[in-house]
Amino acid sequence: MVQAQNTMRILISGGSGLVGGALTARLRNAGHSVGHLVRPGGAVSEGDVRWDPPEATIDVPAMEGVEAVVHLSGASIADGRWTPQRKAILRSSRIDSTRVLVDTISNLRRRPAAFICASAVGYYGDRSNEVLTETSEPGTDFLALLVRDWEAEAMRAEANGIRTVRLRFGLILAAEGGALPQMLMPFKFFIGGRLGGGNQWMSWVALDDAVNVAQRAIEDARVSGPVNVVAPHPVQNAEFTRAVGKTLHKPAVMHVPAFVLRMALGEMADSLLLASQGVVPSRLIAMGFPFRFETLEPALRAILRRPGNE
Ligand SMILES: NC(=O)c1ccc[n+]([C@@H]2O[C@H](COP(=O)([O-])OP(=O)(O)OC[C@H]3O[C@@H](n4cnc5c(N)ncnc54)[C@H](OP(=O)(O)O)[C@@H]3O)[C@@H](O)[C@H]2O)c1
Repeated sequence: MVQAQNTMRILISGGSGLVGGALTARLRNAGHSVGHLVRPGGAVSEGDVRWDPPEATIDVPAMEGVEAVVHLSGASIADGRWTPQRKAILRSSRIDSTRVLVDTISNLRRRPAAFICASAVGYYGDRSNEVLTETSEPGTDFLALLVRDWEAEAMRAEANGIRTVRLRFGLILAAEGGALPQMLMPFKFFIGGRLGGGNQWMSWVALDDAVNVAQRAIEDARVSGPVNVVAPHPVQNAEFTRAVGKTLHKPAVMHVPAFVLRMALGEMADSLLLASQGVVPSRLIAMGFPFRFETLEPALRAILRRPGNE
């Protein structure tokens, strides 16, 4: 156990998710006291706080004394076609939930010192070969507008004097969840291959590094504003495909044309699979952040070496 210098009481929303679960374990291991914001129907343990984002209710007295709030909630972006109803859930589970949380922490007698809010590189939209840093303009597609509005709600905490960090996560690579296990399926059936033209840039980050960045954002009072949580070396889809095939010792010679993806997935295909986002972690590099994985192949080898992926 690596004991943090100043242990804190930290509250996490979306604590049952990929990042939330790993971050909870990491922070507890560092000696922090970690509770979750629990939605109706969820089991509550000591230190947890009940909330119901659609109803805009939170157990406010239970929030007093919390020193940092980490907001990771959001309905899964890749879980089903983006119908108007699904889009409304994707937006409200991020934007409305952020509003509820920011309103609550801004009105506490003792406000938390830090508000750490998830965001996504989807902020930048489809940007061809541009090198995207935290100062790049947002995109204009559905996902980019969602992320822009999500961040705008988070920035209200900043305006209210709470140190606020917006973690613009790239594609988080982990064996236990997120997009990677689904992406591996075609390879396991020997039909792995590039998507569309294969030239689109993919900005990825290993889960371990994403969690390390989140921990740093909580503990380091010098960090605020947007932070691109991506490895320093994004890759094009064809290279990603080649690296997965090589790591799994499976062929990666197939090709799924863009129109097939669009027919199968609709608008989601353009935003999630075909959009080009060459994002670099300028802020993390400037602060000398020690990445565990800077390049893709070692990250994939470490992640896929785990049982069940051979
Ligand atoms: N994984 C990635 O590659 C990636 C990339 C970019 C951005 N992000 C963003 O980073 C955040 C954390 O990612 P993650 O991979 O840990 O996500 P995740 O595994 O899908 O977990 C998100 C959590 O949000 C809560 N949730 C689910 N549906 C909800 C709803 N309808 N309303 C409110 N809360 C809901 C659930 O937690 P509870 O049941 O505990 O409330 C769920 O475990 C998300 O906002 C995600 O969009 C992730």
